[in-house]
Amino acid sequence: MMRVAVFISGGGSNMVALLDDMAREGHAAVPAVVLANRADAGGLVHAAERGVPTVVVDHRPYGADRAGFECAIEAALKPFAPDMICLAGFMRILTAGFMENWAGSMINIHPSLLPKYKGLHTHARALEAGDVLHGCTVHEVTAALDDGPILGQAQIDVRPDDTPETLAARVLVQEHRLYPAVLRRFASGDRTPLILQS
Ligand code: GAR
Repeated sequence: MMRVAVFISGGGSNMVALLDDMAREGHAAVPAVVLANRADAGGLVHAAERGVPTVVVDHRPYGADRAGFECAIEAALKPFAPDMICLAGFMRILTAGFMENWAGSMINIHPSLLPKYKGLHTHARALEAGDVLHGCTVHEVTAALDDGPILGQAQIDVRPDDTPETLAARVLVQEHRLYPAVLRRFASGDRTPLILQS
């Protein structure tokens, strides 16, 4: 079984979708640990409720020392021996060194149809651009921000009356479909892109 570490910074709704799917039959992966960079990340409670170990590595004491923060992450992960990492709303930028350690074994979900709208405020940017299609992407993490081979995308239609908030809510529903489906395939060795229509 592939042992998965899930990294979160907030509410962890994608993490919950991943944990709940791994608990279902026929999955090639098991949750090893949930790691948060904030003790107040709401998702920690949901992980604990599901019997999954949690660890917090606060980034703040490390300031600009990203390598020090990442050393602490590696040390915290070690007892749980994960084979791969799922970033699920983990809002810290990781260094190239960390990514090299996990090359081919770290995946991320991003709330846009990459390569469009890397970074933040993706829903507002899609609206400003007048896009008629929007969605989310799961991709392999490489040294470039929100880049790396695409493992799956889910699309939604943008409605004329959409706001960044309504779009975010509809994209999140799709994230919860897409991420578990991609992890299931990835854990069994299938990296061909999965395209979901709403
Ligand atoms: C999700 O929308 C995820 O795509 C986004 O943060 C949210 C986390 O929600 N990730 C990024 O923006 C990464 N750059 P969650 O904590 O409820 O899963």
